[in-house]
Order: sequence, then C-alpha cells, then structure tokens
Amino acid sequence: MNRNPLSREHLLAVAARVGGWHRRDYTRVRATRDPVPWYYAEIVRRYLRPTDCVLDIGTGSGRQFLSLARFFAQGVGIDPDEALIQAAQANLPPALAGRIAFLTMPVHDLHFPDESFDVVLNRQAIIHADETVRVLRPGGLFITQQVGPRNAENITRVFGCTASGQYRAVAGQDPDSVAAAFQARGCAIVCRAEYNVPYYYTDLNSLVFWLQAVPLPEDFDMARHWEQVAHIAAAYTTPRGIATNEHRLLLIVRKAP
Ligand SMILES: C[S@@+](CC[C@H](N)C(=O)[O-])C[C@H]1O[C@@H](n2cnc3c(N)ncnc32)[C@H](O)[C@@H]1O
Repeated sequence: MNRNPLSREHLLAVAARVGGWHRRDYTRVRATRDPVPWYYAEIVRRYLRPTDCVLDIGTGSGRQFLSLARFFAQGVGIDPDEALIQAAQANLPPALAGRIAFLTMPVHDLHFPDESFDVVLNRQAIIHADETVRVLRPGGLFITQQVGPRNAENITRVFGCTASGQYRAVAGQDPDSVAAAFQARGCAIVCRAEYNVPYYYTDLNSLVFWLQAVPLPEDFDMARHWEQVAHIAAAYTTPRGIATNEHRLLLIVRKAP
C-alpha cells in the first residue's frame, strides 16, 4: 500500500495532462490483466461470412469495426456522436470506402429498412432490442459484448456509481433483461458467457484517463473527486499496478428463420 496519499495539485496536473489525449484513444492506456477466455474480435470473425452485410451499433471511432472489415462484404457503423463519426470517417482507408460507411444515428431510430443486415454488432454500447431485431434478416445474428455490472467493482464502490458510471442503473440494460427482450422477439440464445478477471492500470495516468474518458462517475471532475482518486491509488496500488477487475458479458442471439 502507498502510505503517501497523492496531493490535490498532483492529481489536477495528471488530469490536465491526460485530458490532452484523444477522448477515445484507449491505445494510450497501459494495463495488464489475467488471461481471458475470449477476445471479442476473434468471436465475431468466427460468425462472419464473406457475403455478409453488417451493422455496428455504437461504433465510436470505428477502429474495432474496421479491424473486422476483411471478414464481411458490406458494413455500416453508426453512432449518435457526430465527432466520433467524423473520426471514424477519417480512419476509413480509401480502399474500404466503397463497402463501409459511417453514419450519425442513435440505436433507437435506425434509418434502415426491415431485414437489411445479416449480422448486427454492438460492442459496449446501448442495446435496443426492437430496432436490432427489425433490421436483422430472418436467421441473422446479433453479437454483443458488454461491460459487466461488476466491472471495476472496487473503484465504482468508492464513487457510489454503476459500472458504466451512472449513479442510477439504466433500465432494461442488465444482462437478464437484455436476453429476455430478444427471446420475447422470437430470437434464440446462441451463447451467453461472462468473465471476471484481475486487471491492473500500470500507471496513474492510465487510470485517470479511463475515469475521464468513460466518464466514471458520470460527473467526474478531478477538482471534485481528487480525494477518491487519491484513496483508490493508496488502497489498491500493487507491484503490478493499480488493481481492479474486468467483468465482461457476451451475448449472441439468432433471429427466428
Ligand atoms: C464504450 S463506447 C464503444 C465504442 C466501440 N463500439 C468500441 O468497441 O470501441 C460506446 C459507444 O456507444 C455510443 N452510444 C452512446 N449512446 C448511443 C446510442 N443511443 N445509440 C448508439 N450508440 C450510442 C457512444 O457514442 C460510444 O461511441
């Protein structure tokens, strides 16, 4: 345990420094974790076929979706955040521009005809079962990985917030409700899984970047929350870094043929 709690000035300086990193550039985060039973991209590529038309909901800067591009024919990534869609369009290599598009759109109002997609993906974004099932062709697949409700449990406890940073859970997004919503719309559960492994932020910069980027809690402001951050660093610093846990959920459903 670190017996010298970090000062307000030091933590404000760290927050200002990592605030200059791009909001969604998680490549700057230095962290390690224990082995996990699956990797999202590896799971998804096993289900994709070269002829598939794929929708990625909450695509963010599109990096994850673009990394899968060679496994499907046509793709659209959507996100309600205009700045992120602009970033995704900037990340789109010219060679893929003919078959992948990024559009500003929220999950609850998809501007696509019924049965437009063979596969709908959603990595750690809000789930809307009605719209997702509507745009899937019969027999199509919905694949989602979500942040589990016990993610970073020691940290969320200090802030008194949920795993996604809100002070109140968003109704209908818990794993049982999501699975039941798809079953109620005639979908079969293909796979439901979870893992929960030890996770370590290698340095304070990485922890603070993550708190600001999520944000966690939803109103995170170092000027207001520095004492909690100092407590987390003092209580959970280990030789591997600042210890927490990574809880992830996987759900794969198939629309009725
Ligand atoms: C944690 S990020 C995940 C980004 C990306 N899927 C990835 O795996 O890197 C969650 C994304 O959901 C988007 N989002 C928030 N509200 C949304 C909504 N109503 N409909 C669709 N996406 C939403 C956010 O803008 C953000 O890009």
